[in-house]
Amino acid sequence: MPGKWGLHTFYQKDSRIAPMLPETKRYGKSAFQDMLSRYGSVYVKPNMAHMGKGIMKVWKEDGGYRMLRVKGKPRTFATAESVCGHVLTAVKGKAHIVQQAIPLAEVNGRSYDIRVMMMRDGRNKWRYSGMLAKVAGSSSIITNVRRGGGYVLPIGQALSRSVAKGKQDEQKKLEKELVDASYAICDRFNKYKYSSQIGIDYGVDRDGKLWLIEVNFDYPSHALFARLRDKTLYRLIKRRRRDYKNRR
Ligand SMILES: Nc1ncnc2c1ncn2[C@@H]1O[C@H](COP(=O)(O)OP(=O)(O)O)[C@@H](O)[C@H]1O
Ligand SMILES: [Mg+2]
Repeated sequence: MPGKWGLHTFYQKDSRIAPMLPETKRYGKSAFQDMLSRYGSVYVKPNMAHMGKGIMKVWKEDGGYRMLRVKGKPRTFATAESVCGHVLTAVKGKAHIVQQAIPLAEVNGRSYDIRVMMMRDGRNKWRYSGMLAKVAGSSSIITNVRRGGGYVLPIGQALSRSVAKGKQDEQKKLEKELVDASYAICDRFNKYKYSSQIGIDYGVDRDGKLWLIEVNFDYPSHALFARLRDKTLYRLIKRRRRDYKNRR
């Protein structure tokens, strides 16, 4: 089975990557109820969609439940039964996954995740090529910049203003962890299919633990990097792409 579920089971088999995966199940009424009661907050995502489309978040709050779709106002439900019925309707019989919600680190009260670009170079070797933070738009449950209305920040700013708390060594340690994990993901990805560039999305939680959210392959956005004021990474990405295309 392809899609988000297929990729999840594929990465689960790699012992270096498995500890970074949030618990994920195929959506079904009992899987949903079980995860919601254990984690108190879950994401429900269409198996095959991209760019934040169709994503829902459900969580416990004030003795009841809330549900939010991509953006906007949360709806309130009194019982697990009623929120469950509502999600079931929204899912419309299409394949979905249900996943534990990661308590993402925040800057200025908005959660962010991290995009790491891995690209093949002129010798066809995977190379780390840049990373940045994607900050969620106001009251958005997703950090996808276009659909979620968010913005980008240099990675150092996001980390130092949240989990690294201004500590240079903490920040550098996390950046190294992200790069190392990304090489491991490229290794594993090679067994899935050939691709020349992948954009890996990680969440960092409030304890500084890294989580793998998604691996975008074939056409990961370069434009995200053009949004940074400093164009160094964007130029590197464009140059590496040219090197790859002109490889012999
Ligand atoms: N388990 C999760 N915990 C916290 N945030 C999540 C989780 N899953 C998704 N998100 C948020 O939603 C965004 C979109 O999810 P993703 O799985 O990348 O779907 P898509 O393929 O539609 O981009 C992520 O970039 C992240 O901001
Ligand atoms: Mg995504």
